[in-house]
Amino acid sequence: MPVFTEIEDLRRLYQRRVPRMFYDYVDVGAWTGSTYRANRTDFERILFRQRVAQNIEARNLSTQMMGRPVSMPIALAPVGLLGMQHPDGEIHAARAANAAGVPFTLSTMSMCSIEDIAEATRAPFWFQLYTLRDEEFLDNVLERARRAGVTVLVLTLDLTIQGQRHKDLKNGMTAPPRLTLANIINIAQHPRWALGMLQTKRRSFGNIVGHARGVKSLDGLMEWTSRQFDQRLDWRRVEEIIRKWGGPVILKGINDPEDARRALDTGAQAMLVSNHGGRQLDGAPSTIRALPSIRRVVGPDYPLYLDSGIQSGQEALKAIASGANGVFIGRAFVYGLGAMGQKGVETSLSILRREMDITMALCGINDIKDFGPNCLWSDDLDNPTKAARN
Ligand code: FNR
Repeated sequence: MPVFTEIEDLRRLYQRRVPRMFYDYVDVGAWTGSTYRANRTDFERILFRQRVAQNIEARNLSTQMMGRPVSMPIALAPVGLLGMQHPDGEIHAARAANAAGVPFTLSTMSMCSIEDIAEATRAPFWFQLYTLRDEEFLDNVLERARRAGVTVLVLTLDLTIQGQRHKDLKNGMTAPPRLTLANIINIAQHPRWALGMLQTKRRSFGNIVGHARGVKSLDGLMEWTSRQFDQRLDWRRVEEIIRKWGGPVILKGINDPEDARRALDTGAQAMLVSNHGGRQLDGAPSTIRALPSIRRVVGPDYPLYLDSGIQSGQEALKAIASGANGVFIGRAFVYGLGAMGQKGVETSLSILRREMDITMALCGINDIKDFGPNCLWSDDLDNPTKAARN
C-alpha cells in the first residue's frame, strides 16, 4: 500500500486509474490555463509568521459553516460528473465528507441524483444549482432538494456560457463516453474503472434524465443541457431564484468587488469567491488575489468563502487568514475519489487536516478562530520601527 503524504500522491494514482478523457476533464483550466495556474502560484507570495513558545498543545480546527458545526472549515465544492471518476462517485464523496465532519455539495450535473444522496447518506447535504432556463425543471429540482433535506443552496453564477477547455473538445468528452475506437481502447486500459462502471446503473445525469421534459436519452440530454445555461441571467433573476428557494443561499462565482457589492443586496446569506477553478474566464485574477478587495466590500462579519486552487492545508489557512471564513475544495478531493473512491476522499481530507493542524501549531495558534491576518508576514514587519509597535 503506497503512503499518501500529499494531495499530489493521490493525483498521480488517479491519473493511472481513470480513463484519460475524465482525468483531462478535471486537471485543466480554460484556454491558456493562466488563471488556473495563478490560483495556486499566487498563494506562494503569502508568508506565514513562524511563532514559538506559545503552548500549542490544545489545538482546535472545528468551527461552523452556514451555521453547521464542521470539524474543520473545508467543504466539498460541487463538481459535475463525479460518477464518471468512480462508480457512484457522488455517494462515495458524500459519505467521506460525513465521515470527516465536513459539508458535501451535490452538483446539478451529477450522476447520482439528489434522492440517491439522501438515501445513501441519511445526512443533510448542500445542493448546487445552475440557473437554468427550464422553469418547470427549476421549480421541480428545488422541490426535490427540499424534500431530500438539502439545507443550503449553492447558486452558481459564473457559468451562463461555458469557458473553453481545449482537451475536452479534442477528447470529445461526454458522460457516459461515446464508444468510439479511441475511447474503447482507452477504457480497456482501465479495467478496474470499466468493471465498476458496468456494475452501477448511475451512468448518466441523475438529476436530469427522467426529470426534465423530453430528456430520455444521451442525445436528448446533450441537446437539453446546451440550451439550458441561461445567458439572460441578471441580478433580478438571481433574487427571484433566492426567493423561490426560501432557505439559506451561497452565491458562487463572485470574483470582483463590484459584483460582491451588488450581491449583498440580494439578501443571500453568504458568498463563495470563485473563478470556477480557472475553468471559465482565463485571464481573470486568482481568487486569493481578489479576496481582500471583496472582504472590504462585504464587511468583517459577512460569511465569505473561497475556492479555486486549494490543494493543501497551508493554502486553506492562507485563504482564511486573508479574510475567508472557510474554503471549498474541488480537484483536491476529486483526485482522491478517482484514485480510491470514498477512502481516497477521506485520505484527501485527512491530508489537508494534518497540514492545517501542523501549520497552525507552527504559527503559534491553538484555535482556528484565532487564525487571522496577524498570522501572515506583512511589509510592516520588514520595517523595524513599525514592527516594534506590534
Ligand atoms: C467544477 N466546478 C463546478 N462548479 C459548479 O458550481 N457546478 C459544477 O457542476 C462544477 N463542475 C466542476 C467540474 C470539475 C471537473 C471541476 C474541476 C470543477 C467548480 C468547482 O465547484 C470549484 O469552484 C472548483 O473546482 C474550485 O477549484 P479547485 O479546488 O478545483 O482548484
